[in-house]
Amino acid sequence: MTDRLPPAPDFGAPLPVRPTPEVLAFLALRRSTPAVTLAEPAPTAEDVEVMLRLAARAPDHGKLAPWRFIILEQSAKAEFARRLEALAQSRGDAQAAAKLGKLKAPPLAVAVVSSIRASQIPEWEQLLSAGAVCTNLLNAALALGYGCNWITDWYAYDTEATAILGLSGGERVAGFMLLGTPKEAPLERERPDVAALTSHWQG
Ligand SMILES: Cc1cc2nc3c(=O)[nH]c(=O)nc-3n(C[C@H](O)[C@H](O)[C@H](O)COP(=O)(O)O)c2cc1C
Repeated sequence: MTDRLPPAPDFGAPLPVRPTPEVLAFLALRRSTPAVTLAEPAPTAEDVEVMLRLAARAPDHGKLAPWRFIILEQSAKAEFARRLEALAQSRGDAQAAAKLGKLKAPPLAVAVVSSIRASQIPEWEQLLSAGAVCTNLLNAALALGYGCNWITDWYAYDTEATAILGLSGGERVAGFMLLGTPKEAPLERERPDVAALTSHWQG
């Protein structure tokens, strides 16, 4: 078990709720890193363990863990990309083949897979939980000092592609989390006007 984090708290242990300025500063400045700027070194096995443990602490109505992780290390990811490329070429789809550049560049990827559980919890909420897992994983990777980019692209939606990944019938890709060390600092992007998106319910 990693020593990069506090030990996993015991079930029922009281947990701290307190101001954490460093976390606020991190969230204020966090930025995804473009996939093509991600290079070696890849996250260590220990750091991947940290990321997955923190990702799995995402909110999850009903404690269903309606998701799972598939790790694609460098050579396995290259083979996955090769098989997707063959699929695209078999369809004469040069654009789809070209889109694989983002998947090929980084040294590591983690696919977050949404696996809907039979439950009273609505499917919508189970999907939202998978998105929260992606966000946690992204932020954990950035907080560890790596670069990360959450992408989907055509091979997240194409049933032949997801079969190559090993998904079963009801499963969907919530995100391919591309990981590595950024070769250059990511630049700030446009951010939404939060005030324009916010209203106060008046009844
Ligand atoms: C579900 C989801 C899928 C995404 N898929 C792609 C994608 O296929 N290609 C892409 O360039 N960006 C994609 N993005 C956008 C980037 O991951 C990222 O959100 C964007 O670059 C903004 O970066 P930020 O984290 O710094 O705000 C996706 C984002 C989400 C939430």
